[in-house]
Amino acid sequence: MIRICPSILNADRSNIGSEIDRIAKESDLLHLDIMDGVFVPNTTFSLEESEKIVSESPIPVDAHLMIRNPENEIQKFMDFGCSSITFHLEATDMAEKCVDLIKSQEVRAGIALKPQTGFSSILDLIEKIDMLLIMTVEPGFGGQSFMESMLPKISEARKYLDERHLKKIWLQVDGGISLDTISKAFLAGADTFVAGSAVFRDEDPGSMVDKLRAKISG
Ligand code: DX5
Ligand code: ZN
Repeated sequence: MIRICPSILNADRSNIGSEIDRIAKESDLLHLDIMDGVFVPNTTFSLEESEKIVSESPIPVDAHLMIRNPENEIQKFMDFGCSSITFHLEATDMAEKCVDLIKSQEVRAGIALKPQTGFSSILDLIEKIDMLLIMTVEPGFGGQSFMESMLPKISEARKYLDERHLKKIWLQVDGGISLDTISKAFLAGADTFVAGSAVFRDEDPGSMVDKLRAKISG
């Protein structure tokens, strides 16, 4: 099964509710990027904005926390009602504790790897998580180019998951996903795709989600 998760990072911030309505019917999850200006050199939605987005979203929200010490913030995103929370392995010394906290309320737990973090870094925890996010750009900004050099890491993760029958673990990619790149990530083994600028810079974001899905379906 494949999933398309539009990122609202580069949607029209002054009109987030109607931006979400433009993609909700076609999309599986709404990807909410949270940045703290410390772990990455950018900031995004405040806690108040995040709470409003999550509570009003007609589709489940997939939060991507690009923040240092996510253990201090995870509970808030759980309380907002996110259906999935992903944090960065590089951002904490308490990764296992974060996973346990997220899973304690039946929220899906994801771990993200920056481009320079090898797949082997996650092996101790992989069987505990629900989703592995392999970043295909440096986290921090939308609109960057897809890093083809990440394809071997995606393939390595896919091989590992398949060999161990860990199909319940979603393999997500985030960064530079477009009509030109989604097939490469799919063929390497990703099943869950974040797309920000490709979707929201299109004049019809909903139909762009359909087009991305069609590109990798049958
Ligand atoms: C980048 C974010 C992404 C971003 C993707 O750090 O994690 O989710 O919104 O944007 P595009 O699809 O434009 O690369
Ligand atoms: Zn993201």
